[in-house]
Amino acid sequence: MELATTLKSQTISNHVREVGINPNYWYPVAWVHHLKPGKVMPVVVWQQPIALYRDSNGALHALEDACPHKGVALHRGQVSREGNLLCPYHGWELNGEGKCVNIPYLPKGQKLPCAQARSYPVREKYNIIWIFPGDRALSEIVELPLVPEYEDPNWLMVEIPAHFQAHFSICNENTMDVFHGFLHKNLNGWFDPVLIELKQSDAQVQADYKVSYQGWLSKFIGISSTGSGITTRTVSIQYQYPHYHTSLEGVSSLYLMRLPVGPAETRSFSLMFIKLRLPEWLLKPIKPLVSKLVWRFLFMPFLQQDIQMIESEQRTYLANPGRRYVEINPAIIALQRVIVRQYEQYMQQSSVTGNGTGD
Ligand code: FES
Ligand SMILES: [Fe+2]
Repeated sequence: MELATTLKSQTISNHVREVGINPNYWYPVAWVHHLKPGKVMPVVVWQQPIALYRDSNGALHALEDACPHKGVALHRGQVSREGNLLCPYHGWELNGEGKCVNIPYLPKGQKLPCAQARSYPVREKYNIIWIFPGDRALSEIVELPLVPEYEDPNWLMVEIPAHFQAHFSICNENTMDVFHGFLHKNLNGWFDPVLIELKQSDAQVQADYKVSYQGWLSKFIGISSTGSGITTRTVSIQYQYPHYHTSLEGVSSLYLMRLPVGPAETRSFSLMFIKLRLPEWLLKPIKPLVSKLVWRFLFMPFLQQDIQMIESEQRTYLANPGRRYVEINPAIIALQRVIVRQYEQYMQQSSVTGNGTGD
């Protein structure tokens, strides 16, 4: 559905700050290299604590982070040579599906109790570990986001982790909101944004903005050839619930994968692709180093400014959840509608099937 792009005052509904997620999507939980074989780590997907572990063969398993014996956090346990997870308290051993397969002090020959921790579908792709917290059957049908640049050596990939003390709707609005270039003016960010196209469907918002750039940063990432004049480009922002893809006319491409952790905590795992004007033979050996430097010196300052704004917004909201806010960007209103709709549709379906895990 095509929407008007006129900026017009609208009172927003605070309800969007309280909604849960639609869990029937893949959510990013960790970078692949942060979990070595034989190790276990705690992750949280929308208030569901999960013990994520990798067995000695490299296979990943994700179990509810609560032992079926007494509820102790399983991420404090150990991974056995057989690829099971041992609870730290009494050593009950759970296999990758969460089923109890051994109790060290149970007399030989005695039947094991029926005890099982919930297990979650887990995958690794694009150097990210993904968990499907919803209906297991749907994990086979629902696709991970597509990142075609990942395999293309012409791009420099920069991994950008982020952590916000804020509800995911506030974080998502920051990404959709190109009008906040004002915040980044001291960093040679963008200016003069104009919303030129806006579309919304059940699970998607597509917004195109015209923006202008000037200065060394635009030259460095190839937006303009001189850096001294003003260059105007189109930024296309696509929110495909629950993640983002933003592209700048083939000059850069950002995949922002969102992890809602709790009502006031969100993470993101982003992959930024840029093209540097260096020959491949020169760039290839130094790519990891360049990627880290670009992250540290180019993107971190932007992110730190965003985090300050996002967390300030959350604090004010929590101090007075009834406060009235005014928005004039229809792309933000469209985004809020999708976030609320996805949650409500899921809650409706789960109340029909009696299978609710979304709040
Ligand atoms: S609580 Fe886990 S083995 Fe007893
Ligand atoms: Fe920003």
